[in-house]
Amino acid sequence: MKKIKILFVCLGNICRSPAAQGVMQRLVDERGLGKQFEIDSAGTYSGHRGQLPDPRMRRHASRRSYNLTHRARPIDYSDFDYFDVIVAMDESNRRNLMRMAGCPAHERKIVMMGDYIVKLRAHYDYVPDPYYEGAEGFELVLDLLEDACSNLLNRFSTTN
Ligand code: 4NP
Repeated sequence: MKKIKILFVCLGNICRSPAAQGVMQRLVDERGLGKQFEIDSAGTYSGHRGQLPDPRMRRHASRRSYNLTHRARPIDYSDFDYFDVIVAMDESNRRNLMRMAGCPAHERKIVMMGDYIVKLRAHYDYVPDPYYEGAEGFELVLDLLEDACSNLLNRFSTTN
């Protein structure tokens, strides 16, 4: 069976997208789907290359038993060929990705994380940048990611 490869993308690849990767990887593992999915993350900005996720994100995630060990990396043009689904956390990420996409086939791989937010939809249709926020901002991101990842996984594990 061909693996479905999902890439989560935010700006710095130190807060939202590595957390999304951790949340999704745990869901995939819990559902015994490890052989069917490959999960990764990247940023549109390269300034944090090689760094572990922001200590605040790691702390909040660890309270929910996520161990975030991804090392930040900038998205590369080759990612548009390699991955099947490229998930933007907000509209600014989506615009940057659309600028990088080389053809309509690549553009069609870009989806919005907000489209998979269901429980918290009345309040958010994107995943807000927590970098300049306090603890509540990081908790909110994790709440949104847990909501959206579950729906995203349902979407891609039922039709493939
Ligand atoms: P992320 O958060 O895009 O969720 O990783 C940010 C990380 C770094 C910066 C902004 C947002 N920054 O300005 O360095």
